Amino acid sequence: MVCLITGSSRGLGKAVALAFSKRGHQVVIHYKDRKNEAEEVASQIKESLMLKADVRDFNRVKTLVNGVINKWGRIDVLVNNAGITKEALVIKTSEKDFDDVVNTNLKGPFNFIRAVGRYMMRQKSGHIINVSSFAGIKGKEGLSAYSASKAGLTGLTKTAAGELSGYNIMVNAVLPGYMLTDMGTEANDRAKERALKDSLVKSYSDPDNVAEFICCLSETTGITGQVFNLDSRIL
Ligand SMILES: NC(=O)c1ccc[n+]([C@@H]2O[C@H](COP(=O)([O-])OP(=O)(O)OC[C@H]3O[C@@H](n4cnc5c(N)ncnc54)[C@H](OP(=O)(O)O)[C@@H]3O)[C@@H](O)[C@H]2O)c1
Repeated sequence: MVCLITGSSRGLGKAVALAFSKRGHQVVIHYKDRKNEAEEVASQIKESLMLKADVRDFNRVKTLVNGVINKWGRIDVLVNNAGITKEALVIKTSEKDFDDVVNTNLKGPFNFIRAVGRYMMRQKSGHIINVSSFAGIKGKEGLSAYSASKAGLTGLTKTAAGELSGYNIMVNAVLPGYMLTDMGTEANDRAKERALKDSLVKSYSDPDNVAEFICCLSETTGITGQVFNLDSRIL
């Protein structure tokens, strides 16, 4: 299978890329700025293609997708993982920060689904897995743009699932728990303490476990339009 993982230079995306590679699949490593990290991930993968694009820019996304099609002729799995967050109370969030977060976390997956969807429709098969967040379901103080973008991603997931199911394309979302990736580590101490407090098993999420779930989901048939909560916090 040809698997395209957005934001796979580090963090969860890297774990997902390595997990697909271990299963013998071809993997597209995608990044925005961190070329060295992306090269390090690609060096661990037998069949990889490394491509740069800002997910906010549809033309760049389209060029990237065409690059994958030129090399391998198909895309079987798209994992919309690239994401950012900006911490501030809603009344203190600048318009620029709000736009950056929404354009990355929501418009980014929209751009990729739009670009990849047409090829999956021709193939009459495909899996799209959007990486969302607990914050998109429950909301999180100090993360208004992030929560809004991830809530929007749930709507996008369910709508795309409905529109693409006739082409045998499955579209689902996963909500990882709190992970100590760069994003998780850079958050304030209160956020980290609260995540542990709310966790029934009193631990952070392991990106490798989330990656395993994503790989397993991509091997299923008949599961679409669903949102999977991958930690022990109860809604
Ligand atoms: N960490 C958590 O606790 C947590 C919890 C729930 C959900 N999530 C979600 O899980 C996903 C991965 O998070 P993470 O913690 O692994 O984040 P991370 O370590 O900060 O990595 C972010 C990745 O996204 C890429 N990226 C950021 N902005 C981009 C843009 N405009 N265009 C293209 N690529 C871009 C980065 O590329 P460069 O390396 O090139 O900058 C990097 O590969 C995100 O969607 C996040 O919202 C995270």
